[in-house]
Amino acid sequence: MTRIDTSPHEAGTSPSAVVPATWLPGVDVVAFGGDYNPEQWPREVWDEDIRLMIEAKVNLVTIGVFSWALLEPREGEFDFGWLDEVIERLHSAGISVDLATPTASPPAWFWSSYPEARPVTREGVRLGFGSRGMASPSSPEYAAATTRIVTALAQRYGRHPAVKLWHVHNEYGAPVSQSYDEYSVVAFREWLIERYGRIEQLNAAWGTAFWGQHYETWDEIDAPRQAASVVNPSQRLDFARFTNVALLRCYLRERDIIRRHSPGIPITTNFMATSCPSVDYWTWAPEVDIVSNDHYLAAQRTDSHVMLSMAADMTRSLAGDRPWLLMEHSTSAVNWQERNIAKRPNELARNSFAHWGRGADGILFFQWRASRSGAEKFHSAMVPHAGPDSRIFREVEALGSDLGRLRAAMGTRVVARAAILWDWNSLWALGLEWRPSIDLDFHRQVESYYCWLWNEGVTVDFAHPESDLEGYDLVIAPNLYVATELASRRVRDFVTNGGTLIAAYFAGIVGESDNILPGPVPGGLHDVLGLQVDEFLPLRKQESVGLSDGSRGLYWAEEITTTTAETVLSYADGPAAKSPAVTRNRLGDGTAWYVSTDLDALQLGAVLKGALDESGVRPSAPATPGVEIVVRERGGEAYTTYLNHSDGDFWATGGGVEVLTGEESTDGFTIPAGRARVVYRTSE
Ligand code: GAL
Repeated sequence: MTRIDTSPHEAGTSPSAVVPATWLPGVDVVAFGGDYNPEQWPREVWDEDIRLMIEAKVNLVTIGVFSWALLEPREGEFDFGWLDEVIERLHSAGISVDLATPTASPPAWFWSSYPEARPVTREGVRLGFGSRGMASPSSPEYAAATTRIVTALAQRYGRHPAVKLWHVHNEYGAPVSQSYDEYSVVAFREWLIERYGRIEQLNAAWGTAFWGQHYETWDEIDAPRQAASVVNPSQRLDFARFTNVALLRCYLRERDIIRRHSPGIPITTNFMATSCPSVDYWTWAPEVDIVSNDHYLAAQRTDSHVMLSMAADMTRSLAGDRPWLLMEHSTSAVNWQERNIAKRPNELARNSFAHWGRGADGILFFQWRASRSGAEKFHSAMVPHAGPDSRIFREVEALGSDLGRLRAAMGTRVVARAAILWDWNSLWALGLEWRPSIDLDFHRQVESYYCWLWNEGVTVDFAHPESDLEGYDLVIAPNLYVATELASRRVRDFVTNGGTLIAAYFAGIVGESDNILPGPVPGGLHDVLGLQVDEFLPLRKQESVGLSDGSRGLYWAEEITTTTAETVLSYADGPAAKSPAVTRNRLGDGTAWYVSTDLDALQLGAVLKGALDESGVRPSAPATPGVEIVVRERGGEAYTTYLNHSDGDFWATGGGVEVLTGEESTDGFTIPAGRARVVYRTSE
């Protein structure tokens, strides 16, 4: 068996790590640390911070995220003294810096000098100060002020040896996204002119003949603010697209300044991969050097660990071939949910290894030390209010050591043969008013298909519907409501070339501008699916319908006429009784399945077993309830992460080296209840 070095390494101490070229320069270990806000603490605490960071093997901290007011206390007057000191202290301790631009929280002087830059809600409320959140993305005052502070920071620290990563802004899209201020209206019009060229084109795309919404001039167009009744959905969809672009422009402005002054240092901005409703990360991912993500458990849900995996898989998919980094998660409870459920012993490690196992090369937390004041004082941290003599800090220290043992796995990749199509345009459009049912829910659909595959132990990527799907054997299209011509073509080519497609209801319904596609419904997919939908049959609240195999559908049913598809299951009762419910269509060398109601993950497993078998996609390991297994690989080497979410020990068959404990075995390993383990195996 090939030997690997499983000793805990610190940055710069390892002889020859295989580090991807696009990783943090000079960092040859898994990044570990968190947001560090020393400005909230006196100097004595800074000394203890550095000592504890060294103890915990922290090697990367994010600083300055909310420091604008201290760095530029009066407009144009800078005070970098304290930040110089913090960076020097970290540098002397061998801790790298992820330096943030503080533009997610402009100072008080900005708000009082430039009230017109304040964002305006759809209902017309101009937002006040006293919280956090950026200005209107289209405000020239915000552009000027951010250019000044970012230039000053980049000039001062751009070549500092401690700075290994730039962190632009914080979570674009939250808490400010769509703004209905005057600057945004003007910028929206400019964006529309660029998109449509001629006003007649816009009238056609928006279907303005309906309800007499015709426009003669661009100046007549407003942001789709609250009106007497439902506002034109095409206009709203375009405003969502425009907002994404307006936010992206803010990021690009900062990024390009930093690039000029800080050559060779990667730049990121922290995404919220599956939970940001307003940013289309497919358009952002190519613009960052390293994809990074923030993830917080929806801890009131019993499947919150599955949702974590989903976010990690999405982040990996956004990163493509590049390494990625978990920029924020919590050591225990957050403070902003209705009931902030604390993590139980070892959960912090399981969560961290779930991200690592799905491809992350860095695990960071929000935040290093729990705040005493302000809105987040009940949020957990690496150093909790209880101090370092606490279970949480001990778990943090253990994690730091464990991650240090994974250096040899840097650059390994997770390979998936199945993909779920994720489309922000469909998510935005489905969320608008006056759809056939308020139960149409993009997230719920994606989640149930994801959970099904997670339960089967199948690793999935996410893919943009217009991307080349050739590398996959199984593609799932839940609620692909907006089907552009290209997306329909991609899906058709995928099936024709031998792939297995599973489409869920209300897919392929409208084109790019939210207009119903011509031809039998669903216009974008009927030929691929071999059927037409004669009637949507949304169900009443809490109503369900029976299927011919005894499973029950919720929320939705359809009256379907098959053309070339065969019926796999039909409706046994309810408004669609006798109509096909689940169908299967051969097309070219592949197969397209259609599921016309909402089944939970377990039912999907039974109904779609045939589809999974047909696709040839296999689980990473036999599915075992409560145990998550995922593989990172490179050539003939494999690192299998086992996460035992259950209360009983689990036996993982197969010899190898368990990296976290150094144990070697020729037949297998016990994965203790609640613990994470990583087993290295080689095919040599
Ligand atoms: C994140 C944010 C952090 C912190 C954290 C609390 O969304 O980026 O600054 O507020 O939430 O969970």
